[in-house]
Amino acid sequence: MIRGSLLGIIWMICCVCTSLQQETTFVYNGFDQGDHRIHLDGGARILRKNDVLQLTNETTTQIGRAFFEQPIEFKPSEPVSFSTHFVCALVRVGDVSGHGMAFFVSHSTDFVGAEPTRFFGLFNANGAASTRVLAVELDISKAPDVLDISDNHVGIDVNSAKSVKAENASYFSDREGRKVDMNLLSGDPIQVWVDYVGTTLNVSIAPLENQKPSRPLLSSPSINLTEIVQGRRMFVGFSGATGSIMVNQYLLGWSFSKSMASLQKIDISKLPKVPHPSNKNKSSSTVRNALLGLIAFLVLGLVFGAYMYRRNLYAEVREEWEKEYGPLRYSYKSLYKATKGFSRDEFLGKGGFGEVYKGTLPRNIELREVAVKKVSHEGEHGMKQFVSEIVCMRSLKHRSLVPLLGYCRRKHELILVSEYMPNGSLDHYLFNHDRPTLPWPRRFAILKDIALALSYLHTEADQVVIHRDIKASNVMLDAEFNGRLGDFGMSRLYDRGTDPSTTAAVGTIGYMAPELTTMGPSTVTDVYAFGVFLLEITCGRRPVEAGFSAAKRFLVQWVGERWRRSSLLDVVDPRLTEFSSWEVERVLKVGLLCANLAPEARPSMEQVVQYLNGNLALPEFWPYSPGIGVLTPTAFSQAQLMVPSLSLSSSSSNNSMFITHSLLYGSGR
Ligand SMILES: *[C@@H]1O[C@H](CO)[C@@H](O)[C@H](O)[C@H]1NC(C)=O
Ligand SMILES: *[C@@H]1O[C@H](CO)[C@@H](O)[C@H](O)[C@H]1NC(C)=O
Ligand SMILES: *[C@@H]1O[C@H](CO)[C@@H](O)[C@H](O)[C@H]1NC(C)=O
Ligand SMILES: *[C@@H]1O[C@H](CO)[C@@H](O)[C@H](O)[C@H]1NC(C)=O
Ligand SMILES: *[C@@H]1O[C@H](CO)[C@@H](O)[C@H](O)[C@H]1NC(C)=O
Repeated sequence: MIRGSLLGIIWMICCVCTSLQQETTFVYNGFDQGDHRIHLDGGARILRKNDVLQLTNETTTQIGRAFFEQPIEFKPSEPVSFSTHFVCALVRVGDVSGHGMAFFVSHSTDFVGAEPTRFFGLFNANGAASTRVLAVELDISKAPDVLDISDNHVGIDVNSAKSVKAENASYFSDREGRKVDMNLLSGDPIQVWVDYVGTTLNVSIAPLENQKPSRPLLSSPSINLTEIVQGRRMFVGFSGATGSIMVNQYLLGWSFSKSMASLQKIDISKLPKVPHPSNKNKSSSTVRNALLGLIAFLVLGLVFGAYMYRRNLYAEVREEWEKEYGPLRYSYKSLYKATKGFSRDEFLGKGGFGEVYKGTLPRNIELREVAVKKVSHEGEHGMKQFVSEIVCMRSLKHRSLVPLLGYCRRKHELILVSEYMPNGSLDHYLFNHDRPTLPWPRRFAILKDIALALSYLHTEADQVVIHRDIKASNVMLDAEFNGRLGDFGMSRLYDRGTDPSTTAAVGTIGYMAPELTTMGPSTVTDVYAFGVFLLEITCGRRPVEAGFSAAKRFLVQWVGERWRRSSLLDVVDPRLTEFSSWEVERVLKVGLLCANLAPEARPSMEQVVQYLNGNLALPEFWPYSPGIGVLTPTAFSQAQLMVPSLSLSSSSSNNSMFITHSLLYGSGR
């Protein structure tokens, strides 16, 4: 009975012994949470997701250990030796490096007193803690107090963090025949081999894809392991620690044996992947993706904005009915470029209907200078007819008309392109005293030019064209100072679309025939305006001068008054020194005749041309003839003129404006 139980005990011991024996050789190709042979200590854990053993769990000043639960024991007959091969990775969390990890062989698993940071959770400043340790450190920080050689080294530690031997991380490449540097903190898997035979401890490292180097990185010939761990029984495992900075220390695979010959191969292909913060930290990667998305969105937005800006910048209104005017149509882009983006440098002036810019358009090979007028308008009502009229006017060919070259349409904007007149408009020479004045023969020639142009519009063109806005500022001077009539038909743009019940007359104050509001524009209203223009060019003053005394304020009335006092030549522009009094007198009388209050008493433009050329005698008329040199049918009265003078004083006479005729004449009619 006793013998039986004794045998049983011996058998059991043998079993345990053999089981122990068997367990001194093992291999891990990745780690399994259910495997209880690995003891986890501190922050160490096996990641469920990918079978990776992580030594520290992303907390600062922390220690984590993982060791083979059963001690490795050597029989007295056995030589103390071992061989191990493991694959690990150090992955940075932030921008700065932290601390590394170590493989250890220890006397016990009781590490009381061990410190984190540069002590790897194995040692402290005084050396070994409560247990005796041999360690191989993979160190990524350079701590001066433990005599680290660099922040990227491998060292052999005997009961102290001060290595007995250390080398910068590198391996001997058999293929290249030289040492190749390695970065421990690259985040890539690192293979480490530690072999101990006799008293020699060799350490090698290499990247994952490499074979074990033929020459070790470290070789220490005088390591007495039984003395270090004080016995033939020892624990093997890994320890890692963090300080104020975290680094993730991962173990992907591990093989261990008492002898190099029995060491099992790690199957590299079965090893888990190194977890990287980029695919680990979902929240930060979402933040980054969102950021990238936002940047992409902004870039797209900018590109789209620029596209829309360009599109908007050059946007035009183009309708089906315009197709027939194709060749007359200018693109807004070409006009924009011709005027340097309607730059202030190219600004010529503000005409009656819009701003005028000088432009340079390419024509065949040479450049052509043009005047580009921007006319703003509300709504598209009547635009079709207006454009067709403008285009018709292009067929008007007379040497005293400013040729219209084409047009362009935009929303609320019509752009007209005409020939550029280098000497500008006549009014500048008449009223700007800083410009040289025009001598009488030139003035006489200009007014005959305009008379011919107007006569052409009224009679010789295919259809009767009413100019509607004759005045000195619409008379342009070409390079030879010939008079050219511009802006014909423009006022029609403003006529259209207005409520017919409000009979607002369009034109320029002082040039508007009295019947304009009631009868509408006609050739005789043009004749009236031309009459005023004749007086204007001869007297060198505007038709209405709000600042003048009541007697001089209205040109037509003033000239009539002078004639009635038999001093007609008093009205001549004082800047004119030499002139033919016969010509001047004739021009003034034709002017008064044209500005007759009664429309039916005015001559036609054909007659006017003949009067001016002296080919036709003037009709009989006297200073006191009805309608001559007066503004109202009744006798002139001071009180009646005070009303308009008040309303006119705020707007100087040159500008085109809308005015209801009744304001000026209403009380007298
Ligand atoms: C990390 O491990 C320590 C134990 O060492 C534990 O107290 C702590 O809660 C763990 N932290 C995380 C984030 O898992
Ligand atoms: C290790 O590398 C550092 C630079 O990283 C260098 O200063 C040092 O001299 C190297 N030490 C050895 C032993 O090669
Ligand atoms: C250690 O490396 C040396 C060469 O540096 C070699 O001669 C020796 O056999 C190696 N010992 C072991 C145990 O690998
Ligand atoms: C190692 O140390 C032990 C005890 O300290 C000693 O008995 C043994 O002879 C040493 N071995 C060698 C090879 O020096
Ligand atoms: C993960 O992201 C959170 C918040 O986005 C951050 O606080 C944390 O430090 C990040 N951790 C790692 C390991 O990147």
